[in-house]
This record gives sequence, structure tokens and C-alpha cells, in this order.
Amino acid sequence: MTMISVKNLIKKYGDFAAVNDVSFDVKKGEIFGFLGPNGAGKTSTINMMIGLLKPNSGRITINEIDVIKQTKKAQEIMGIVADESNLYNEMNGFENLCFCGALYGMKKKEREHKARELLKLFKLTDASTKTFKSYSKGMKRKLTIAAALIHSPKILFLDEPTTGIDVESSRQIRELLLQLKNNGTTIFITTHYIEEAERLCDRIAFIVQGKIVASGTISELMDKITQNHNVHIITNKDVQDYITDFQKCFKESKVSLKKPNKLVIETEKRIPLLPILKFFQEKEIEVYEAKEIHPSLEEVFIKLTGIETSVLQKEKGGF
Ligand SMILES: Nc1ncnc2c1ncn2[C@@H]1O[C@H](COP(=O)(O)OP(=O)(O)OP(=O)(O)O)[C@@H](O)[C@H]1O
Ligand SMILES: [Mg+2]
Repeated sequence: MTMISVKNLIKKYGDFAAVNDVSFDVKKGEIFGFLGPNGAGKTSTINMMIGLLKPNSGRITINEIDVIKQTKKAQEIMGIVADESNLYNEMNGFENLCFCGALYGMKKKEREHKARELLKLFKLTDASTKTFKSYSKGMKRKLTIAAALIHSPKILFLDEPTTGIDVESSRQIRELLLQLKNNGTTIFITTHYIEEAERLCDRIAFIVQGKIVASGTISELMDKITQNHNVHIITNKDVQDYITDFQKCFKESKVSLKKPNKLVIETEKRIPLLPILKFFQEKEIEVYEAKEIHPSLEEVFIKLTGIETSVLQKEKGGF
């Protein structure tokens, strides 16, 4: 079931098209990620999806609600984590969450209960009576996400949730996002961390200069750049003398020796491993490892976008 549908979205600042004909769908219960460098159009896209920025043209529906025409109705089912926090410096953690709950019309008892639950979930119970301004960057980000969840939204939008924060808070955030997904929440996230996209997202869109260059599951993206399958075999002894024989038995493959006990089998189609293992077993050679080697998401990104990943690593300012 489609939860988010974006069609032919265009956003221009003057003559410059920051988002240039972007279309994609997000299914219910999946984590969909926008991966792209600075200035790619991630924030502009997310801001249009949450009804904060008006597109020049295009359509956005969230759970079949038109975001442009029925912004308020659509926002009721969204949790929004912007790239800058919207919480109050002078309020403590608990008060901030309850305040957000009140904005969504939650009753006092209900919002206080949910606030306590979220503080516990985000490991912020001890900090709940401290003012927001005294929090570390990681704690601030966690509370901002907790605030976005106060009204139990169906869909969560996060703009670079782990940029510029400590490793432990980032890890906790990723873990929580996976938990939310498992409970049925649909998540749209932007990031410029390849690893984050790889660990979290069911599907990823590579966005560069306002355009989606490629999208799909990680394995679909990998398939776009790999023509052949590569299987690496590691044995207990030198297999040099068996290569010609092996090639005769497995005609559809191209075999090369990387080390005396390591060979690579390249094939156009996937081939079963068992006959290969049997071949070596008959020659009393032990196979220690036999696995298919995939390109990394980083290699896929470089090939498909033509940009180096160092461009993505650029850290940005604080929270
Ligand atoms: N209000 C604005 N007026 C003019 N240009 C803008 C405005 N907002 C964004 N832009 C430009 O539009 C392009 C896309 O910006 P956007 O913030 O959407 O990118 P981003 O992918 O979120 O980048 P980052 O990784 O830095 O957050 C950039 O070139 C940016 O300079
Ligand atoms: Mg941005």
C-alpha cells in the first residue's frame, strides 16, 4: 500500500530549479531514504512533503490526503523532525514534550503518559527535568525526535537526523527508527551518510542537483551496476593445477586465481555452489569460504551519480 506519493515535483528559487521533476512512492511501513550531497534538494523536497514549502508544480499525497490542498489534515498524521530543532530552550524535556502534545490537542493525562514513555524510550528520563538548553547536541536531537512522536504519527519525516551528533546518540536514533518501522510507522529520511542509508533504509533514492538519479532497494541499486556475479572461493591448499580442469567442468564461468588458494568465479547468471564444492571435495581440497561478492553501496553511488563520496562526507554546522 502506497503511503506517500510524490509526482513531478518542481521547486524553483528564482530561475534555479532546486527540485527538478522528482517523483517517487513510499510504501506503508517502510523506511525510504533520500541520499545526496549538500544542496541536492533534500530539505526543499521534505519541506514540500510536510506542507512547509509550496512547490511550483507537482502533486504530493500522504495516506491519500493532498498535502498542498489539505495541508492541516495531512499534518495531523505526520511527525516532523526538521534539520533545526523547534523546541524551547527554557523548558525542560518533559515540559517540551507535553507542550507539543497539547499543540496536537492531546489531553493532559494522555500527553504526560506519552511524554514519560518517550523519555524512557530515548533514555532521557534522567534529563527530563533539565532545561533543553543544557542538553548536548545528541540529547537535543533525541528529544526533538521524541517530540515529533508525541501524537503517535503514522508517518515520520526526518531531515538529516544524525548529522553533527555523537556516535552513541546516532546509534540509538537508528535503533529507535528501526523499532518504529517494526511497529508499522512509515519513515522518510534524508541523509548524506551512505552507511546510514544502507543500515536503515528499505529503499533509497540518490538525489543530485534536484533530480533522482536512481532509486530502489540496495540489491536493485547494486544490480544496476553489476553485469556479472562474482563468487570468491578460499581453499586449504594451492589449487593452481586444477584451474584448467575446473574451467572445463564449468564452461559458463570465467575463473581466475587471486592467490594460490583463492579463486574468483565470474558468471553471467547465478550458479549453484554445490557442484563447485563437490568438484573440490573429489580432489580432497577443503573449501573454507565460498561467497558471492557484491559491490558496496559506495561504489554503486559513485558509478550511478558520477560524484565522489567525499562530497557526501562534508560535515555541517551544529544543531
Ligand atoms: N530559500 C532559498 N532561496 C534560494 N535558494 C535556496 C533556498 N533554499 C535552498 N536553496 C538552494 O536550493 C538548493 C537545494 O537546497 P536544499 O537545502 O534543498 O538542499 P539539501 O540537499 O537539503 O542540502 P544540505 O545537505 O546542505 O542540507 C541549494 O542550491 C540551495 O542553495
Ligand atoms: Mg538539507
